[in-house]
Amino acid sequence: MNRQPIGIFDSGVGGLTVAHAIKQILPGESIIYFGDTAHLPYGDKSEEAIRSYSKRITEFLLEHKAKVVLIACNSASASAFEYLKKEFENKVILIDVIDPVVDYLKTRKISRIGVIGTKRTISSGTYEKKLNEAIPSTTVVSLATPLLVPMIEEGFIFDDISNAIIRSYLSNETLSGIQALILGCTHYPIIKNQISKIFNFNVEVVDSARIVSIIVRDILDKNNLLNDSGIVNDQFFVSDYTPYFEKIAKMFFEGEINLHKSDIWSS
Ligand code: DGL
Repeated sequence: MNRQPIGIFDSGVGGLTVAHAIKQILPGESIIYFGDTAHLPYGDKSEEAIRSYSKRITEFLLEHKAKVVLIACNSASASAFEYLKKEFENKVILIDVIDPVVDYLKTRKISRIGVIGTKRTISSGTYEKKLNEAIPSTTVVSLATPLLVPMIEEGFIFDDISNAIIRSYLSNETLSGIQALILGCTHYPIIKNQISKIFNFNVEVVDSARIVSIIVRDILDKNNLLNDSGIVNDQFFVSDYTPYFEKIAKMFFEGEINLHKSDIWSS
């Protein structure tokens, strides 16, 4: 089982930020990545829709022998994590991207935390609920920033358009006085630098990629699942082929990637 890949999924390129961090922390591990580009964005879908997409993707990853499944998407973590845990109880270890960030923030003394994310993640109130339970003394404020995912997926990243959109969102009154900002969407680390710049690098910008990768390493270690065979084979699947996905994946993984289109809903 140790040689089997780590299953990772997201609606599109966002989860690649997490996959990339996993490969840095666990270079000996293989990954199998599924980007549900046919249903992107998840952020404006209903909870029911996201649950059913997530369930089918998890089945697909298990059919491809994933040894653990990482939900590298906040919208799916907020809407489907508990549901998937019940559905796949005793079948696979599931890891989300929200709990590790909440646990990390427990170790920090921050009195006002901001969260930005998709409409689905923010309206679920998951971050507020979990942070309020974990650190009752902290005030949590949140803001949906729905244009950021389509903007990133369309390749508007380091230009005037993206800077204007990011600035407009982050200057919202709600976020004033925050000491830390959680990037509650795995797409956002791609624009982390621009975000930090808007706060003059005075706000701690927290993204889940590295934090979650350390948790994955600990879980694999604890369960004797680390791959020590020296054989690594990464695979990438999308539900709809987009040249942009391939471009970003190649950027993250420096070179050719093994990308397949797999319409798992019609099979
Ligand atoms: N990257 C995802 C997230 O973390 C999904 C964004 C979307 O598809 O709307 O929420």
